[in-house]
Amino acid sequence: MEKDWPSGFPGINWLGRQEEEAVADVVRKGALFRYYGPQSPTHVDQLEEYARTFYDVDHALAVNSGTGALFTAMSALGVGPGTEVIVPALLWVATVTAVIQNNAIPVLCEVDRSFNMDPEDLEKKITPRTKLIAVVHMAGTPCDMDAIMRIANKHNIPVLEDCAQCNGGSFRKRKVGTFGKVGMYSLQINKNVTAGEGGLLVTNDEKLYTRLVAAHDLGVPWKKGLPDETGEVCFWGQGRRMGELAGAVANIQLRKLSHVIAHMKASKQRIKDMLGHMEGVSFRRLNDPDGDTGPFLILMFDKESHAGGVAQHLTNGGIDNVFHLSNYGLHIYHNIRSLVEKVPLSPAGNPWSLSQNSDSLFEYGKGTCPTSDDLFERSVIVTIPSRLTDEQELEMTQAIKNAIVANVTS
Ligand SMILES: Cc1ncc(COP(=O)(O)O)c(C=O)c1O
Repeated sequence: MEKDWPSGFPGINWLGRQEEEAVADVVRKGALFRYYGPQSPTHVDQLEEYARTFYDVDHALAVNSGTGALFTAMSALGVGPGTEVIVPALLWVATVTAVIQNNAIPVLCEVDRSFNMDPEDLEKKITPRTKLIAVVHMAGTPCDMDAIMRIANKHNIPVLEDCAQCNGGSFRKRKVGTFGKVGMYSLQINKNVTAGEGGLLVTNDEKLYTRLVAAHDLGVPWKKGLPDETGEVCFWGQGRRMGELAGAVANIQLRKLSHVIAHMKASKQRIKDMLGHMEGVSFRRLNDPDGDTGPFLILMFDKESHAGGVAQHLTNGGIDNVFHLSNYGLHIYHNIRSLVEKVPLSPAGNPWSLSQNSDSLFEYGKGTCPTSDDLFERSVIVTIPSRLTDEQELEMTQAIKNAIVANVTS
């Protein structure tokens, strides 16, 4: 592949003078912290204000990472001993880590051919101890939020939307992250837009927002820039504030998100159109093609050996970040060894050894989600870099075609 192939990390392909200026502004003024010290209209405040409009929500809170956002949200929602959180079989380890760190029990749910949470299996996984449904809009595309919210509302269980990999995506014209009780986005380097590290939480629930503010800092809510030490919310905080340097970059990047997505989606569509119909290959189902954000293409085959061969062929040919899905690291539940082996949080034990969790007898090894296992074994995920030229799109399409011809159709 060409040496000047654009980065597979979408947002950084659009970093430019505006981000540079914003960071320089923070440094020049020495205004590095949003809450006190030298002050100017803070970049983090501006980011949150823009986020409220962009996502069309009442409240937005910037935090220091996507993982931080998950920890903060679960803590604020009361996830803890004696509770279960339903998570999909395809995720990133961060989502399950937040459950474990809050001493609750993760419960795995199958994914369907959209590679997102299967609503039918979701309903089967609900127990009297289910405290939260944590959906993950995986690999750029939205879950079926109509079906998921119908089930969640029927059982009166709150939904957390992990939109780390689908920032700016939508389902039936509504932004992901705004269907459930709380939504989170990651601004890490490999996300649709980035500040290097960073996260955002959104909610329309005023009470929850107060708890999120308290949880993201030191357990007390901030009022008018000062901690309200007499405030009604008083629990343990986590030190997950966003700094002004990250805020300065994120505030610019978020304003570019729709443009980045439009570019990625169009590129992926052209590649799909050029690939056309190929015997023995199908594309991942999209729950809402309009709401896709475009950074990944998932190809499904009839046999495991076909998927393995195609992934290897593309990797050998110099295409970066292509994976046979069952080898997709800590995105696949059974690859998370600490989960499979129920590794303790401390020498004193782990969530599974707590008496409050003794009714939650779940396992996590391969075979726990057989439908998902079968999909993972027969599929390949290809990263579509965010700023491909026409020639590079053609080159990538040809590489995929060659891999398929060599491993499937020949
Ligand atoms: C699905 C998902 N959730 C959560 C996270 C965590 O975000 P961060 O890396 O910002 O902590 C990631 C990031 O890789 C992710 O892909």
